[in-house]
Amino acid sequence: MFYGLSLENKVKFLQALKSIAETYPGGMYAQDMLICVGKNIAFRSDEKFMASFDAHANSDQEKSLLWRLHVLAWAGLNALHVEGDFVECGVLRGFSSAVLCQFLEFDKLSREFLLYDTFSGLPEETSTEAERKNWDYTMLDSDKLYQEVCQIFSPYSNVNIIKGIVPQSFENTVPDKIAYLHIDMNSEAAEMMALDHLFDRVSPGGLIVLDDYGWISNVNQTIAESKFMQEHQHAILELPTGQGLILKH
Ligand SMILES: C[S@@+](CC[C@H](N)C(=O)[O-])C[C@H]1O[C@@H](n2cnc3c(N)ncnc32)[C@H](O)[C@@H]1O
Repeated sequence: MFYGLSLENKVKFLQALKSIAETYPGGMYAQDMLICVGKNIAFRSDEKFMASFDAHANSDQEKSLLWRLHVLAWAGLNALHVEGDFVECGVLRGFSSAVLCQFLEFDKLSREFLLYDTFSGLPEETSTEAERKNWDYTMLDSDKLYQEVCQIFSPYSNVNIIKGIVPQSFENTVPDKIAYLHIDMNSEAAEMMALDHLFDRVSPGGLIVLDDYGWISNVNQTIAESKFMQEHQHAILELPTGQGLILKH
């Protein structure tokens, strides 16, 4: 999936991609705004990861997120060596966390996975009009979505779904220690407030993945998250997937 092109430019772009794929030995990886050539992409040979991904990637958009999910699976695996729970802020249909739960066999773990979302899109309290326009969730049936997400995670007694607005919803339930933190709310204010509330709870060695860090369309988020991490003496690894990765020390 490639976004932000007019129909005319999309045709030109796809023709150029086709020409690279045909001429470059070994072919090309091109999806989710990421194009690369000459890479092994070894995670495609990881049967357990691919089975977990394929079990939950239903739409073309979800299927295009393979590399981002590889990053989350890697972060999740490493977080298993760190004290604390797993947290995702911004869940939507539960795609990323469902892949992770299956991949890590989360039902066998003695830790919790906390999933925070309004399940009705970006709330006015924590987002701008422009952000709400960019990510229009008005067509969502909120109750139905919430029920569907509860159903997806019903095999996991240690997954806790918290419906409400971040950061207020932390007042009811928030883990003392966090090993894995995925922040993906498509909104600068919401993400900064989540970081403010949760950063100190992330254990040393814990992993933080910021889904929206590297996108040109979200440059204000890039600036705000970089400043926050600088102030907290941490550095963000910007990944070609658009994600930002932080190793807590
Ligand atoms: C891009 S989606 C999350 C996608 C998800 N991580 C996945 O794997 O498919 C962003 C989500 O953030 C949620 N969200 C945005 N601001 C929020 C807030 N302040 N509190 C709770 N949820 C919020 C929206 O409801 C939406 O479902």
